[in-house]
Amino acid sequence: MQNAEMIVMEDLRACVKLDIVERLAKMILTNAASEIPVCTADVATTALEATVQCAGQLKFAKNGEEDFAVFVLQDGMAKITSIVLQTMSTYEDYNKASRRYDDQRAAVGSDVMAAMLQFYIGKKLQDLQILDAGCGTGNYAKSLIEHGARQISLLDSSPGMLEKAKDKLSDYIANGTVKDFIEAKMPPLPFSDETFDVVMFNVVLNHLDRGNPEFPNCVNTLKETVRILRPDGFIIVSTMLPSVAHNVMWFTQLNMKLTKRFTDECIPSVEQIEKMFEDAGIQCIQKLSILGSDMYKSYYNLDGPLDESWRATSSYWSFATSEEVAEAVERVKSLKASGEYEQWVKEHDLASSSGFLTIFFCKPRTTDKTIPLPE
Ligand SMILES: C[S@@+](CC[C@H](N)C(=O)[O-])C[C@H]1O[C@@H](n2cnc3c(N)ncnc32)[C@H](O)[C@@H]1O
Repeated sequence: MQNAEMIVMEDLRACVKLDIVERLAKMILTNAASEIPVCTADVATTALEATVQCAGQLKFAKNGEEDFAVFVLQDGMAKITSIVLQTMSTYEDYNKASRRYDDQRAAVGSDVMAAMLQFYIGKKLQDLQILDAGCGTGNYAKSLIEHGARQISLLDSSPGMLEKAKDKLSDYIANGTVKDFIEAKMPPLPFSDETFDVVMFNVVLNHLDRGNPEFPNCVNTLKETVRILRPDGFIIVSTMLPSVAHNVMWFTQLNMKLTKRFTDECIPSVEQIEKMFEDAGIQCIQKLSILGSDMYKSYYNLDGPLDESWRATSSYWSFATSEEVAEAVERVKSLKASGEYEQWVKEHDLASSSGFLTIFFCKPRTTDKTIPLPE
């Protein structure tokens, strides 16, 4: 292979070593190599292949999946701006994140979801077959069970998150409330037609596509949802909106350039969500915003941005490059040094009046435009 060189790197998926990938990007740029084999430390088991697809992307193919590293040229140097792991979220390594996820996160809005589902479907929660799609560590599934659900399936692409969910729900697995744990990447949804009464996606859809304003993976996942729903079934989509990152959460306003890049690439706006629903044949019946910051348990830890373990619980920080994180950290340090930090946070935090989470209650679209209210 012309210009080919061998370098040793760890498995991209298990441990993303930016400096090594950057070295690789530099080598490719300087050698103009079209194909460079890259090996992990354990060459025999986990050899990866890197191919330059176009300027700015390094593709890694493994087991038929394609991951890629996005790099930019800065002062003649190749700098990795992001790593996209196609087998998981487009910007977060949830196997790694699973270790700390529950330190911070709570199933905000699950009480509202339980009430709304019973109201709209007109059946008790215990009689509904529910899929928690992108279940993570199982917080929403657990809360719905505590509200009365008795038939719930969980699906996620991250084995690490699923392991945590299995531990948390072991009693409910034993008594048959939890029917199954599926490790799968959406789309598609590996279930037969008309299997569920409810499919919920809690803060998941923003992980399926990146840099594509049409959100094709989301649309295909939602189309699949329509297929696996029973007649009169319901879909719940909960998400953070771009406006929340721009105006409501204080820590996302420390580095607005990063936040704009994050929301532009990954977080669909209300208009884009409505377009997704339309493309997938879904209609939204009701939108709700949950007030407050309860989704993040230590949201008001003002020193959080300085602490890697605090940052590790929000995928916002995983999306950021190390330079962008450093800029946010510097901003905190300088605000602290000038004695303005607490006031700055007060002025940039609207969580108590706006909250982070918006919930969309949806149904497959019918030809009849009117939605009957339950009797
Ligand atoms: C922010 S977490 C939300 C977890 C859980 N729903 C909650 O609210 O606590 C996003 C989850 O989506 C999962 N995920 C991301 N992309 C996925 C995909 N393509 N297919 C299935 N799960 C995916 C991740 O592994 C992660 O567990």
